Amino acid sequence: MSLASLEDLFLQELKDIYDAEKQILKALPKMAKGVESEELRSAIEEHHAVTEKQVERLEEVFQMLDKPARGKKCVAMEGLLKEGSQLLKEDAEPEVLDAAIIAAAQKVEHYEIAAYGTLATYAEILGYEDAKELLGETLEEEKETDEALTEIASTINYEALEEGDEEEEQEMAVSRKRNR
Ligand SMILES: [Fe+2]
Repeated sequence: MSLASLEDLFLQELKDIYDAEKQILKALPKMAKGVESEELRSAIEEHHAVTEKQVERLEEVFQMLDKPARGKKCVAMEGLLKEGSQLLKEDAEPEVLDAAIIAAAQKVEHYEIAAYGTLATYAEILGYEDAKELLGETLEEEKETDEALTEIASTINYEALEEGDEEEEQEMAVSRKRNR
């Protein structure tokens, strides 16, 4: 039985998020390259550095449990990141694409918030005080990142909105000419 105890489940969830973080590390530079907004790009780049630290923290937790740091393919993160990379291939107005990338990034953050929240709770129940501390630290960082993205979205969503208006005006001008 691979899941005979909460301890087993804790380890399995650790492996899941460890793999998820590694996938994120690979995906972030492509995302950063694809966005228009400088502010968004630097937020993504900063998150890359933060994610590197989060991976190290997970490795520390594995060490505390006396287990090898090994991931188990996180299929959910694979799907979320695939959606993000597909967005980059769309024929999109840059501001609208930026809004879409923020949405994709926040979906990733919420997956991580759920994962680290659960892991911190399990660590506490299992009596792993130090692991709980480390996982809680990362949980807070993920929440901060999510809030930072919401903040950036509060400008970019409106830029995307204006972009749509401009497009509509141009189309109307063209059809006015045609109707003359
Ligand atoms: Fe993370």
